[in-house]
Amino acid sequence: MRENTSATATTPEPLLDLEALRADTPGTAQVVHFNNAGCGLLATPVLNAVLQHLELEAQIGGYEAAAARTDQVRSFYTELAELLNCAPGNVAFAGSATHAYATALSAIPFERGDVILATRNDFISNQLAFLSLRRRFGVEIVHAPDLPEGGVDVEAMAALMRSRRPRLVAATHIPTNSGLVQPIEQIGRHCRELELLYLVDACQSVGQLPLDVARIGCDFLTGTCRKFLRGPRATGFLFVSDRVLAAGYEPLFIDMHGARWTTPGNYTPSPTASRFEEWEFPYAAVIGSAEAVRYARRVGLDPISRRTPDLAARLRNQLDALPGVRALDRGRRLGALVTVAVEGRQPQEFKAALDARRINSALSFREFAQYDFGDKDVDWCVRLSPHYYNTEDEVEQVVAAFRELTR
Ligand SMILES: Cc1ncc(COP(=O)(O)O)c(C=O)c1O
Repeated sequence: MRENTSATATTPEPLLDLEALRADTPGTAQVVHFNNAGCGLLATPVLNAVLQHLELEAQIGGYEAAAARTDQVRSFYTELAELLNCAPGNVAFAGSATHAYATALSAIPFERGDVILATRNDFISNQLAFLSLRRRFGVEIVHAPDLPEGGVDVEAMAALMRSRRPRLVAATHIPTNSGLVQPIEQIGRHCRELELLYLVDACQSVGQLPLDVARIGCDFLTGTCRKFLRGPRATGFLFVSDRVLAAGYEPLFIDMHGARWTTPGNYTPSPTASRFEEWEFPYAAVIGSAEAVRYARRVGLDPISRRTPDLAARLRNQLDALPGVRALDRGRRLGALVTVAVEGRQPQEFKAALDARRINSALSFREFAQYDFGDKDVDWCVRLSPHYYNTEDEVEQVVAAFRELTR
């Protein structure tokens, strides 16, 4: 693959060598994959890394294969550390972003009356976790208001930080239900100034936008490898800051990998983020994830983050211009998730018609985003999420399909 960010006034060089990237991605010959917010298409080197490890497990045994591949396993941490701008010891593997999030929450000793300050666009499962904490521990959940143009009002959120002194501040970088990109660095600056614990869900942004945990100023950051990083399924990670590690935060249920059982009545947590991991690992998937991060870094987060939202904007604008189709994404900054309401159609039927044209999409429903969809007054929408390896031609194909299906 070739990275070329230089451009002349007359003939701009392409940001990426699309032909090579698509040749590396067998799925692009089969489908128009606009469901990267669900799961990205695997690149061949990632697929091979997973398959080779499974083959080794079959040949020499699962534990023995893991021992033979310690370097590749270690590269999961070094690659993510490079991607996020932290040390390998700040990274824990997790089987999903939700599991990483719950494990981080479990480390916070919430008490009755503690405040969790979140945004109206935090991910559904995070909101459910907050509600569960409210049910069990009596915490109070406060949602910062949105700006009229969409996205959280950071100044209002900062005022709530000062007046309510939350036990935790939470924000989802890009929600599952719209293309909104929340200003997580601005929120983080206030958290650092006030020394508040800050948890960021970067599940939809990792692999799509550059992430720098030092600039974000977060204490925890969660992500998946299967979406815009294009890794295998059931892989994710948790970043844990040095502050949190030094302060002794540990998950409620720590296991023999996360801690040493030092005496019959005591244990010592691991000094690194590995205290948030479990002993059992899907080694093939971990090695595949390391390869996916390596691949994304080789393609380059800078060109990826310029091409991907541009492709999405092109799609969003064209769909919004069609009669009966309404783009729903709002906010000062938008990413690669495009959500549209389609008038007078049934969700499953509409998606099935896209499936029949080999166009991969997803549906979102009111209960995925009670606040956002309530504000927008929609019960469901179609979500389309291109990635850098999709083409302008594919955007035209999707628009043509919508034109035909909404006629
Ligand atoms: C914003 C956001 N956070 C978290 C998740 C959960 O990720 P996982 O399915 O890996 O638990 C998703 C999944 O769609 C998401 O969109």
